Amino acid sequence: MSHAGALVLFGITGDLARKNLLRALYELTRDEGLDLPIIGVAKTDMNLDGLREHARVAIGKIDDEAAFGKLAGNLRLVAGDYRDESTFTRLRDEVAGHGFLVHYLAVPPSLFAVVAEGLAGVGLNQNARLVVEKPFGHDQASARALNAELLKFFDEDHLRRVDHFLGKEPVEDLMVFRFANMLLEPIWNRNFVRSVQITMAEDFDVSDRGAFYDANGTIRDVVQNHLLQLLAILAMDPPPSTDARAQLDEKWRVLRAVRAVSPSDVVRGQYEGYLDTAGVRPGSGTETFVALRAYVENWRWAGVPWCIRSGKALPTTDLEIVAELRRPPVTMFRGDDAHVRPNLIRFRLQPDAGVTFDLLAKEPGRQHTRQVPVSVDFTKVLGPMEAAYERILTDAISGDPRRFARMDLVEESWRIVQPVLDLPDRPLPYAKGSWGPEPAEQIAPGGWHEISTTFD
Ligand code: BG6
Repeated sequence: MSHAGALVLFGITGDLARKNLLRALYELTRDEGLDLPIIGVAKTDMNLDGLREHARVAIGKIDDEAAFGKLAGNLRLVAGDYRDESTFTRLRDEVAGHGFLVHYLAVPPSLFAVVAEGLAGVGLNQNARLVVEKPFGHDQASARALNAELLKFFDEDHLRRVDHFLGKEPVEDLMVFRFANMLLEPIWNRNFVRSVQITMAEDFDVSDRGAFYDANGTIRDVVQNHLLQLLAILAMDPPPSTDARAQLDEKWRVLRAVRAVSPSDVVRGQYEGYLDTAGVRPGSGTETFVALRAYVENWRWAGVPWCIRSGKALPTTDLEIVAELRRPPVTMFRGDDAHVRPNLIRFRLQPDAGVTFDLLAKEPGRQHTRQVPVSVDFTKVLGPMEAAYERILTDAISGDPRRFARMDLVEESWRIVQPVLDLPDRPLPYAKGSWGPEPAEQIAPGGWHEISTTFD
């Protein structure tokens, strides 16, 4: 794994750079002493001073002018069209002498292969790594086709597919929680767990991303990648060693065991008003909400439903996993609502991070039980966390593959959702601010558990 001598950022004036990458680069410069040439490539009228100003605005609050000055000093710009060979010859001149290159493609996926070919045309695929953003393909066949295109210019060892959820510290905490503690592992299987629910809710709508979103929908946008990665981390067996490959292999093994989702295990929704969004096709059948059940068919998980739901315009913005344990075999106590509630283990990932165990305790003065939460707020106890893109960029630069999606994982994820992509029936309407269409409630056995909103 070679460390970058320079970072080439395609799409430096685009949305992703403005919203995430430039801020992450600033924070890495400030906190980690990042100091290497960053060559932006973009189709733009900006000059280098304009780019520096653009970066200042995009970064937002700058609390360390010296760090910003260092970052701005490291910026370069090659302006030009990605289909124009001269853009790449100018890039070659700009990067000369910088050693190993990391090309980060924050550009629309239709340009991934175009840029890879342009780089190869001037020899910049040698001594270099290619990092591509999501989405990687539109289904399994197109993901394979895209991969085959990229492999013409970069081999798998020099390719990284970004899934920024893998850069989130609370996601990595799941692994630490599972494998650094002995508490969970003995019960983390079908004998004790009745179901697992993964909710990724967003209270905002599609807004100005109409055209992108309409071509994708919730399953492609977040389930195939982010949420199946979470499932893999939660369901996998302990890797036999700490190296990246062992971890990726275990994720692959568990995804291999996930049955392709059946259309009868899916409810899709579309919020009311979606069709009026700029960029959305008239009468579009794209879903903005999905609730589905997946099954991991192996010894650890056979028969346990993994329920996933996600959507736009929901009541809150939260990412939470709730594992529901089986009830005790004999009921010795009555609960506050006449039946004993199950124990729940909640992993809260966003907006704050931590774990809550919903346990039962005796209601004082009565022979009844009451559910009481036992919580740890990681942010309060452990301090603030790094942003996902800081870690993604750090790994892009160093080459560590563990926080990227290996191709075999991408293929398995597409296989799992393939039967429910582009279903012929229209998604069911739901009101903005609701939890999606009514029938989604039935996807989780016993209904979805309420999200725990905050620790306080
Ligand atoms: C992106 C999706 O990959 O992830 C968006 O395209 C979604 O639709 C976003 O809003 C969520 O990421 P985060 O880091 O803001 O939770």
